[in-house]
Amino acid sequence: MSLPPPTPAMRAVVTGASSGIGVALAEGLARRGYSLILIARREDRLRELADRLAQRYGIEAEIRSVDLSDRAERAKLCDELATRDIAVLCNNAGFATYGELATANPERERQQVELNSVAVHDLTLAVLPTMLARGVGAILITGSTAGNQPGPNNATYAASKAFANTLAESLHSELVGTGVQCTLLAPGPVRTEYAEVAEVPKLDGMLPGPLWVSAEQAATAAIAGMAAGRRRVVPGVFAKVQTVSGQYTPRSLIGPILRTVYRRVK
Ligand SMILES: NC(=O)c1ccc[n+]([C@@H]2O[C@H](COP(=O)([O-])OP(=O)(O)OC[C@H]3O[C@@H](n4cnc5c(N)ncnc54)[C@H](OP(=O)(O)O)[C@@H]3O)[C@@H](O)[C@H]2O)c1
Repeated sequence: MSLPPPTPAMRAVVTGASSGIGVALAEGLARRGYSLILIARREDRLRELADRLAQRYGIEAEIRSVDLSDRAERAKLCDELATRDIAVLCNNAGFATYGELATANPERERQQVELNSVAVHDLTLAVLPTMLARGVGAILITGSTAGNQPGPNNATYAASKAFANTLAESLHSELVGTGVQCTLLAPGPVRTEYAEVAEVPKLDGMLPGPLWVSAEQAATAAIAGMAAGRRRVVPGVFAKVQTVSGQYTPRSLIGPILRTVYRRVK
């Protein structure tokens, strides 16, 4: 398996392209010659990135300012994407909340599920039929190491990323032999606006610097993983340790351990 070759008509779609891993994915794909559709809510940032990448790499970059947690806005975008030639879909937009579920803002929790899980499902369903008819295409889903085990005090995020992780790995196997592929990007800590959006400034200081990866490192690993047809990409040593411990530590142990850790985050 490899990535579909870039053509002038085809597009690589990146959600969450106004910040962090999404910006780096967009740049990495533009460097490989893909014309882009960049999606997020902050239009000014999308415009700036689109102009920079178009100028630097000689590609076309379209932008769509869409709140992907809004079902009506998302439906319009899905309708459009279903009619376009999409070579690559990077389902990357997402955010987290921390704290006890019982005291969380229900609307914010619902938006999190809509964005991290339902939008990923909807966008994937929108592009998959055309990719399969064409016999070529690549889908990336940004899940998280948080989706490998229960996440007390981070429950909605962990559950929404469990959905993303499982969807990606299920599709990976389902699509074998079709010419279309699906890869999971399951990062651990990545230095982006994630902690600020989640309102957990302490998170940045909880881990020593070398345990973090940059957005560029995560995106480079993700694109290389897609190009190699990989099932799962886990960038960085700490994320690999998290993955193994999340999968093999008994639930009766990992639940209380993470409850203690995540209580200190907020
Ligand atoms: N950073 C980490 O430690 C880490 C670890 C594991 C997994 N991840 C995952 O990596 C992905 C990228 O996150 P990041 O770390 O790059 O964080 P980030 O810097 O906060 O970027 C998040 C992106 O998602 C977009 N987004 C948020 N809400 C949206 C909405 N309602 N509609 C459309 N777009 C929306 C944001 O754009 P707008 O605000 O402009 O809409 C932004 O472009 C997420 O799925 C995250 O869960 C991150």
